[in-house]
Amino acid sequence: MVDWAEKNRDHFNNSASTYNSKFSKTILQIIEEIQVRRDWIGIDWIDEEDESNSLNNVRLLDYACGTGLVSRALAPYITSATGIDISSSMVHEYNTSASNQGIPESEMHAVVGNLIDSSSLPDSSFEGKEFFDFDVAAVGMGWHHFTDPAYAAKALGKRLKKGGVLLIIDFLPHEGIGEGGHGHGHAHHHGHSGNHNHNHSHDAGDQGEKERADGYGEDKNMESAAAHTVTHWGFAKEDIKKMYEEAGVGVDFDFVVLGKGVVFEKEGKSMRRTAFMAKGRKA
Ligand SMILES: C[S@@+](CC[C@H](N)C(=O)[O-])C[C@H]1O[C@@H](n2cnc3c(N)ncnc32)[C@H](O)[C@@H]1O
Repeated sequence: MVDWAEKNRDHFNNSASTYNSKFSKTILQIIEEIQVRRDWIGIDWIDEEDESNSLNNVRLLDYACGTGLVSRALAPYITSATGIDISSSMVHEYNTSASNQGIPESEMHAVVGNLIDSSSLPDSSFEGKEFFDFDVAAVGMGWHHFTDPAYAAKALGKRLKKGGVLLIIDFLPHEGIGEGGHGHGHAHHHGHSGNHNHNHSHDAGDQGEKERADGYGEDKNMESAAAHTVTHWGFAKEDIKKMYEEAGVGVDFDFVVLGKGVVFEKEGKSMRRTAFMAKGRKA
């Protein structure tokens, strides 16, 4: 059985130091997409100019945080961000960037972890109260890397306080590299809607697996580097809605397609892939 967690850890450990420079334009674009939708996300954000909410406390869990895209996007409107990522090098980048900006650990800090592994017991180092009762749990461009996204929704839902919001930014179904053109938008290794984690192959077979890409990469060279880390070729609204509902975070569910798409630049070439943003509140 493919160990997706291990593959992701290895790949992102090796690519962490160049991640921000490789994807600088994409990162800025997604930060803007998040910021313009902050009212839509529906949290009573911190507003430094509004004294009436000066006692407000807004805690973000930035899951699969990478170098900190979502934390950076929401930093002006929150009290604190806790990043968690399976890759220690990504966590290092996240923490270095926060400390370079003079942000204290109490406001922005990441740790290494995997809260979404349905095949093992929960990690006891995440049982402290600092890892619960978040106002927002967000996953930016990480959902397509998860072995069992339905389980991930449940595991992250548990970390929210009542009324807290699960926010996902990821891709709509798209054809994967090496899928031989049948492009039905799903990976061949998935655990939709439950914990049944099945692995099955269509016509892409091993060849497809080797050529699979990170959603961020459109260029074949870039894609091949991360090919083995992608578990899903994007998600349809109905799949995401079901995951939210089954995880108990389906209140006020909404799903928006980011109209402009997400642009990738590589060696002077600009490419576009359609992304979505989904939100739902814990009952
Ligand atoms: C494409 S990057 C996205 C990083 C960041 N959220 C962003 O939007 O730039 C995917 C991230 O998911 C992390 N990841 C993959 N599987 C994970 C898991 N099971 N638990 C935690 N993090 C995971 C990777 O290490 C990587 O940092």
